[in-house]
Amino acid sequence: MHRSLRQLRPLVSSSKSRLCSVSAVRHNHQDAQTTASTSAGHANPAANVNSGEQGSRVTHFGFKTVPEEQKENLVRNVFESVASSYDVMNDAMSLGVHRLWKDDFVARLKPGARGPMRCIDVAGGTGDIALRILDFAREKYADRETSVDVVDINAEMLKEGYKRFKKTMYHNTPQVAFKQANAQAMPESEFPSNTYDLYTIAFGIRNCTSIPDVLKEAYRVLKPGGTFACLEFSRVNNPLLSTLYDQYSFSIIPLLGTILAGDRESYQYLVESIRKFPPQPEFAKMIADAGFTTGAMHEGKGGAWTDLWGGIASIHTGVKI
Ligand SMILES: C[S@@+](CC[C@H](N)C(=O)[O-])C[C@H]1O[C@@H](n2cnc3c(N)ncnc32)[C@H](O)[C@@H]1O
Repeated sequence: MHRSLRQLRPLVSSSKSRLCSVSAVRHNHQDAQTTASTSAGHANPAANVNSGEQGSRVTHFGFKTVPEEQKENLVRNVFESVASSYDVMNDAMSLGVHRLWKDDFVARLKPGARGPMRCIDVAGGTGDIALRILDFAREKYADRETSVDVVDINAEMLKEGYKRFKKTMYHNTPQVAFKQANAQAMPESEFPSNTYDLYTIAFGIRNCTSIPDVLKEAYRVLKPGGTFACLEFSRVNNPLLSTLYDQYSFSIIPLLGTILAGDRESYQYLVESIRKFPPQPEFAKMIADAGFTTGAMHEGKGGAWTDLWGGIASIHTGVKI
């Protein structure tokens, strides 16, 4: 059902209160398995959670090490700060390439090919993937029943998405709803188990404190037979491309952030967070560990992931059997 922005507010508090209890449980469980602390650079992403000086749990926020409970707020601040300039900046930073990747991502999933689908786009931000899913189903299969729930932790990003959808034919229809929630702990009352045919998350999972918790929730809300699909910045294997990409990322992107959005720090974080995300095989293993059936542990046909542009981004999929 379509949810107005006024209705987003109550959801914030309900999801926040649920979050507290969920993270408390997780902390107890993980205390028994605290791992060694990481340093800056390409961390072992499996060691997303580590032990700090006073035994407090720490994680990475870009290249900084921060107490685990602070990361969500820091990430929220970043996206609050970039929300109004996010779409323009995305085009500027990627020279429009993110559009091609997103088109490719959605085209591979073929929404609507086998009849209307119930989809959830998590960390959906301003609705880029949701819009593509609905357009693809309508244009290719004359499907006006496929629907997408756009979920994000950040009300500002959702507001931008809502404004954008107001200009489309999907506004005020059952085809789209905007819901504020944390990908790691979506309230069961709002997001019942075994509900969705397709779960997408694009350029979002690296911002979450616990990747395994996101995957666990994805598994829970998908129907048996449903597909998990993630588009994320990844690891470039070609050394020349990797050097060029590093230079572009660390010098041009923060500079563009300063010039176009007056916000160097947020864009510096976005670049750093990409480098902290697990390489393709490790992330594929995390998806399999969450219970999904994946392709074989390699790239390409029959594999668990597909690299785009030499691994600058990659698509990982898994099916809940
Ligand atoms: C880089 S944006 C991607 C937005 C959109 N998917 C796209 O591809 O354009 C990352 C989004 O993740 C959201 N996010 C970060 N942590 C989250 C969490 N724990 N739960 C849900 N959304 C989260 C942010 O608010 C932001 O909107």
